[in-house]
Amino acid sequence: MANSSRISGFFRLSPAERRHIIVDWVAVSPEQRATLEAVLAEPGGLGLTQADKMVENVVGTYALPLGIATNFVVNGQDVLIPMVIEEPSVVAGASFAAKLARAGGGFHAETTEPSMIGQIQVLDLDDPGAAAEKLLAQRARLIDLANRTDPVVVSLRGGARDLEVRAIPQSPAGPMLVAHLIYDCRDAMGANMVNTACEALAPLVEEITGGRVNLRILSNLADRRLARARCVIPARALDINENKPGFSEKPGLSMPGELVAERIVEAYALAAVDPYRAATHNKGIMNGIDAVVIATGNDWRAVEAGAHAYAARDGQYRSLSTWSLSPDGALVGSLELPLAVGTVGGATRVHPVARAALQILGVSRARDLAAIIASVGLAQNLAALRALATEGIQRGHMALHARQVAVAAGAMGDEVDRLAAAMVAERTIRTDRAAELLAELRQETEYT
Ligand code: MEV
Repeated sequence: MANSSRISGFFRLSPAERRHIIVDWVAVSPEQRATLEAVLAEPGGLGLTQADKMVENVVGTYALPLGIATNFVVNGQDVLIPMVIEEPSVVAGASFAAKLARAGGGFHAETTEPSMIGQIQVLDLDDPGAAAEKLLAQRARLIDLANRTDPVVVSLRGGARDLEVRAIPQSPAGPMLVAHLIYDCRDAMGANMVNTACEALAPLVEEITGGRVNLRILSNLADRRLARARCVIPARALDINENKPGFSEKPGLSMPGELVAERIVEAYALAAVDPYRAATHNKGIMNGIDAVVIATGNDWRAVEAGAHAYAARDGQYRSLSTWSLSPDGALVGSLELPLAVGTVGGATRVHPVARAALQILGVSRARDLAAIIASVGLAQNLAALRALATEGIQRGHMALHARQVAVAAGAMGDEVDRLAAAMVAERTIRTDRAAELLAELRQETEYT
């Protein structure tokens, strides 16, 4: 296994050459090599037979690009990051930001216990406060019953941890009570085990409270299952040098790193106070997070729901990350959000590419996966802020977007890059113009 995720020139290689590097990174035996190579080479990576068992009414599968972000160091370990995403610039942005963070030792990430919350809603109560007290008095009995629903997770030292109860005096359906079952899901995302436990508890909750249970379901505001990432980037690593343009700068742009760091902090400041900016700022974070969540077969809607609810936890929707300057001028970034992801169960083990993605990441524990994902989110945020606070993102973005437009206009093989370059040169990236330029290009090729 190679030991550095810093693979220079990776982006210049062909997909097959990149795949060989990734297979070398992971595989030890010839059999493992062959399997991984075959899974990654298979377009879409998911057979129809498997797909037909995953959801209903299947008629086909839908493929998205799987890219690998390089340069990441998380908690002292080099990691390569599989990312599934349709948007250009995201994989390149993450890799570039990881290179910057590497100059300060990479990302440091930690997670809380992998505990989820299951909600049980109780209605038709004369006195919700008194019912809450009765439930709390039977807490141990309820936790014990919840733990009988999944002996496997209990044997792995997970399972029900606690029961919390809240009386809600007023709601559109009158007064009610909500019980929260705190449940450590270990390496699973846990929706199934938590929902099963909540459903099992419902009759006993009704017996104890004398009320009627309605909802019994996991909460996606997984604020007991947080991941935090942090990075410190020396100002000099942020220098923009006109002779060595990095990701997204035009040649000729120069800025000292101290200034770049200040501009990034200013850019963050708007997201700290303004929900209009915070939504976009957090979307940039989720570009990185979702891409890894999807690559590993996890439920990205659950992660999105948790992230945005957490961003609004004090009543105002805010940035999930913070950026500041250290006394010596280094740029310090941090990110905290709920990350309900698993390494067992669901599509993580069923989808062959999701299994391959976990192998590439080298993780088997959900908490290690969450730590890496939080680091990718912070990297993605840094890439966006740095580009926005200096040159702006459109030039770099449009260069990549031009390739998609070229493909949409029918370009094939090396026509794609030639057509994209022609559109970028004349600053017109539209399918109608792409079609005209493609016709011209083909005519030229015919006569030369
Ligand atoms: C685009 O997908 C994401 C950005 O808008 C994020 C941001 O503005 O921070 C570039």
